[in-house]
Amino acid sequence: MMIDNDIEKTIVGREEIVEIIDRLGKELTRDYKDKYPILVGILKGCIPFMSDLMKHLDFHLEIGYMDVSSYFGGLTGAVDVKIEMDLNMPVKGRHVLIAEDIVDSGRTLHAVIKLLEHRGAKSVKVVTLLDKPEGRKIDYVPAYIGVTIPKVFVVGYGLDYEGRYRNLPYVGLLKPEIYEND
Ligand code: PRP
Repeated sequence: MMIDNDIEKTIVGREEIVEIIDRLGKELTRDYKDKYPILVGILKGCIPFMSDLMKHLDFHLEIGYMDVSSYFGGLTGAVDVKIEMDLNMPVKGRHVLIAEDIVDSGRTLHAVIKLLEHRGAKSVKVVTLLDKPEGRKIDYVPAYIGVTIPKVFVVGYGLDYEGRYRNLPYVGLLKPEIYEND
């Protein structure tokens, strides 16, 4: 691929992603087969992972999406999470499984989980392709983790740098000159 030229190193390759999704699919099928959950993707990064994962989920489910952004407050350093696009279905009494590309600070999920619990979801759990525990600002451990990565900035398979590289079919490190040129 042409966009490969901007990648310094692969962090999670295509074959590893296939293996991870196969394993997570089996775990989730075991745990959710009688629960008829709502699989909720957090846009935009969830798209490749959620799309591949759902084909390995052998149980009835519905899907929905939310778009959530974080805003960093100037002097106070506070972080606000804003729901840019809400789920368009009720979650009351339903099991919810959130699909994420990455859990970093944990702030996005903390806000979404609190909201869905407040609305009466029966359970809210998270499946994430990547977990970056060293980035945590909020104590949180996702129930289903594809792979744990160190505190590095990665792109691809849903993850972006300034909106680009989401379509890369694997997860990698950008070459430093890509940042330096911007
Ligand atoms: C990324 C990612 C998660 C969130 C994780 O989304 O997809 O939703 O950040 O970070 P956190 O654990 O520190 O909250 P982003 O806000 O970059 O939006 P995007 O998916 O549209 O790129």
